[in-house]
Amino acid sequence: MQAIDKEFDIPVDMDEPEVELPLLAVRDTIVFPRMLTPLFVGRKRSILALEAAMAENNQIVVVTQKDPDIETPGEDELYTIGTEAIVGRMLKMPEGGTNILVQGSQRIELLEFTQFEPYPRVRVRRLQESDEKSLSAEALMRAVLALFEKCVQLDRNVPDDAYVAALNIDEPGWMADMIASVMDFDVEQRQQILSMVDPPTRLQQLSIMLAQELDVLELESQIQDRVQQEVDKGQREYFLREQMRVIQSELGEMDGQLSELNEVRQKLAEVVLPQEVREKAEKELARLSVMPLGAPEVGIIRSYLDWILELPWAEISEDNDDIGHVSNVLDSNHFGIPKAKERILEHIAVRQRAGDKMRSPILCFVGPPGTGKTSLGRSIADALGRKFIRVSLGGIRDEAEIRGHRRTYIGALPGRIIQNMRRAGTLNPVFMLDEVDKIGADFRGDPSAALLEALDPEQNNSFSDHYLELDYDLSKVLFITTANSLYPIPSPLQDRMEVIEFSGYIEEEKLEIAHQFIIPRQIEENGLEGIDIRIADKALQGIVREYTYEAGVRNLEREIGRIFRKITRRLAEGKAVPKLITRQSLVKYLGPPRFMESKLNDEDEVGIATGIAYTEAGGDVMPIEVALMPGKGDLTLTGQLGDVMQESIQAALSYTRSHAKDYNINKTTFEKFDIHLHIPEGAIPKDGPSAGITMATALISAFSNYKVRRNVAMTGEITLRGKVLPIGGLKEKILAAHRAGVNTVIVPHQNQKDMIDVPKKVQRDLNIVFADKMDEVLKTALIITEKKSTKRRSAASA
Ligand SMILES: Nc1ncnc2c1ncn2[C@@H]1O[C@H](COP(=O)(O)OP(=O)(O)OP(=O)(O)O)[C@@H](O)[C@H]1O
Ligand SMILES: [Mg+2]
Repeated sequence: MQAIDKEFDIPVDMDEPEVELPLLAVRDTIVFPRMLTPLFVGRKRSILALEAAMAENNQIVVVTQKDPDIETPGEDELYTIGTEAIVGRMLKMPEGGTNILVQGSQRIELLEFTQFEPYPRVRVRRLQESDEKSLSAEALMRAVLALFEKCVQLDRNVPDDAYVAALNIDEPGWMADMIASVMDFDVEQRQQILSMVDPPTRLQQLSIMLAQELDVLELESQIQDRVQQEVDKGQREYFLREQMRVIQSELGEMDGQLSELNEVRQKLAEVVLPQEVREKAEKELARLSVMPLGAPEVGIIRSYLDWILELPWAEISEDNDDIGHVSNVLDSNHFGIPKAKERILEHIAVRQRAGDKMRSPILCFVGPPGTGKTSLGRSIADALGRKFIRVSLGGIRDEAEIRGHRRTYIGALPGRIIQNMRRAGTLNPVFMLDEVDKIGADFRGDPSAALLEALDPEQNNSFSDHYLELDYDLSKVLFITTANSLYPIPSPLQDRMEVIEFSGYIEEEKLEIAHQFIIPRQIEENGLEGIDIRIADKALQGIVREYTYEAGVRNLEREIGRIFRKITRRLAEGKAVPKLITRQSLVKYLGPPRFMESKLNDEDEVGIATGIAYTEAGGDVMPIEVALMPGKGDLTLTGQLGDVMQESIQAALSYTRSHAKDYNINKTTFEKFDIHLHIPEGAIPKDGPSAGITMATALISAFSNYKVRRNVAMTGEITLRGKVLPIGGLKEKILAAHRAGVNTVIVPHQNQKDMIDVPKKVQRDLNIVFADKMDEVLKTALIITEKKSTKRRSAASA
């Protein structure tokens, strides 16, 4: 290694421009002027030259040979530029050879050999270099220093204080020599520097070489960094894994995981799976087996495999195909509902002939609450001998509820359809989707869109669940959906289903259902079997009329349940119980009647007409009130009326105005009175056009002062010209009017065909008037007195 010593100053003797001195040929190294350089001298000739030098002032010429392999280089095999040097310390080594320290004094040019044997001597010319610091030399020095600083930082072979040393040299040539001697350059590069006598040229060349070196160093350090990082990461992981392994073996868990894996493997081998499913499961299993225990993925894959293993992929329960049997089971659980029962029997018949080619129908039971939709679904499953599962869709707003979350989600699960298929354990359960009309939709996606796929016979043999990521076959499932009203169900969904309407029951049917089904069931549920107890028909009728007001029989069942509970309690307390529940004793069991008051008016009145509305709870009568007050023809509406209803009020009002003359209404009254139209039970939103004729009747009554008959109810849409247009839900409406106790019902003539669904008993009880025109409605509804009272009441009372 070179050492630097600035203080060590050798006067350059330029008095003699040419000298003759012994020559030391060196390999693989360059001796620079002013630099201390240790050399190992081994060749015989070189040792002789050294000894000669020691004898003459310690002066010697050091020149580097071009090819290090040549033993005795001649003139041509040496570089022509070398260094004149002083030999310092000399150390003979025990194993032969000599270590010496030389210090260069100045550049020389080799002129000629003056002697070759026994050691070489040469005549050289001393090369003078200027130490003048020009501006450009100064600039070059700075550039070289800057490069050198960076090299020192990156190159671990250059000592850090080399930079400080270089910084303190202010001769351009010297600085270049010094830097060239410490940098990790090869011999040719150093010789190149040595050969440049002019200092600025030397600095320039040096800066090029430094810049190249810096590039290499930077690249090297980048690679180093990356390698280090990799090593660090690898070591860290290795370390952690080792630790984990030790902890696991300490806890004895390794065996647990292994046996668990084997268990899954064995299960997988045993179950029947479609090819695609098996491949997927095996892939996941393979992933699992190479995973370190405790990796967060382990749990996720485990539960995924559980889902696959526990879902039915091929299990099918045998249907009971005996039509007689099925029909018996259905009849023994439910009264009436012929349409739904028939559809199921047809399904079985077709299945018997078509076998697997038949697609399962998707049924939709629509009707008021408590009319047996859910419970019929259950008995269909019983009758067919299929599994029954039920999902309530009410309030579901998130598509993922139906179709599941992707597995990347924390705590992801399959959707409700797949979850319930797992519960069913067979591919062909009766799957009831309750309350399809109550599905919501918001930013989390539209659940009904996911349902579309499940409920489409064309594509539900490959239902896709986000969690499962495998197609699942739902085509063997018998889907039954239920709804209270078809109206909120998106029409694409309606399209895929076969709608079967369930209607409300009339009183006689309710009594029959109570006798056949509800009472026996409640007796059993309340532990009253074997006790002699009956409910009198009059009492049952009393419950239906005064304690419940419903289309179905759910509340009826609840009230009967309450009576029996009280009986059971009396028994438990050791008190006497009656054998017969009479109408009079109802108050004792159920408290005061709740629906005594009729919704109908007590007497015939002006400005109030009775409409019939179709609600989710079946049908109901709905009085419509109109009051006139002195004013200037303004219209006020109250009772939460929807847009369609408001338009229909305008139509009714326009009709009234244009037919004023027919009902003896003075045209000017329209400008002199404000109108207030109100529909009671203001908390319930109301909409639809079917109250049109009722509103027109109330308006005309108010303006004309003719009274409306209290026991007439009506339904129908009105046009500006007074035509009566048909409405929907006729059967429910007529049943509701019947329940409410009216004796005449006005319905649109075009609805006459729907009367076929209305029970004969009801048709006999009611006077049903079919109307085509508004005047036919008014003829029936209004009490038109010949002599019109001349004095109008200031406001028609309401
Ligand atoms: N035709 C019927 N024969 C015998 N029982 C009936 C009949 N209709 C209804 N029920 C009984 O009434 C009760 C309520 O019926 P269910 O729960 O099936 O009503 P639902 O139509 O599903 O009502 P919701 O629309 O409110 O869900 C049940 O206990 C059921 O057994
Ligand atoms: Mg239900």
